Amino acid sequence: MKILVLNGPNINMLGIREPSIYGKENYASLLAKIQNYADERGVKLKMLQSNHEGVLVDAIQEAYKKFDGIVINPAAYTHTSVALLDALKAVGIPTVEVHISDVTKREAFRQISYVREACIATIAGHGTDGYLEAIDLLIEHKKAKKNGKI
Ligand code: DQA
Repeated sequence: MKILVLNGPNINMLGIREPSIYGKENYASLLAKIQNYADERGVKLKMLQSNHEGVLVDAIQEAYKKFDGIVINPAAYTHTSVALLDALKAVGIPTVEVHISDVTKREAFRQISYVREACIATIAGHGTDGYLEAIDLLIEHKKAKKNGKI
């Protein structure tokens, strides 16, 4: 199984940016944590962070027919990007939306998610463990599909 893990703008600033909201763990240790989790489950990963919307759109397009699942934290683009939504719809790869913070309890503008419509699930407010839960959901989703349950 191959999963693409995408992170949007400012996620590279984890550990520095607003630690009271996003925690003290930095981006490098987040990557190591996700990689270890995937290794233990025999899941192959590609991980990419970008501050540029088009780079994320390109990565989604390039995943077409190459990846079984996408874990995406679109960060601020969650609340603005029709382009990311359209790219996810275009490739049709099962996708889980992840937010480190609980966006449901934050500003009104964070309640809007354009990408959600193209995702099988959203995980918000579980800190960086949300990425691991997203991997589990994608593994389960693939099994269910194989067994004809969905
Ligand atoms: C975020 C929430 C977004 O509203 C914000 O713009 C981010 C991070 C999260 O992981 O909690 O950059 O996606």
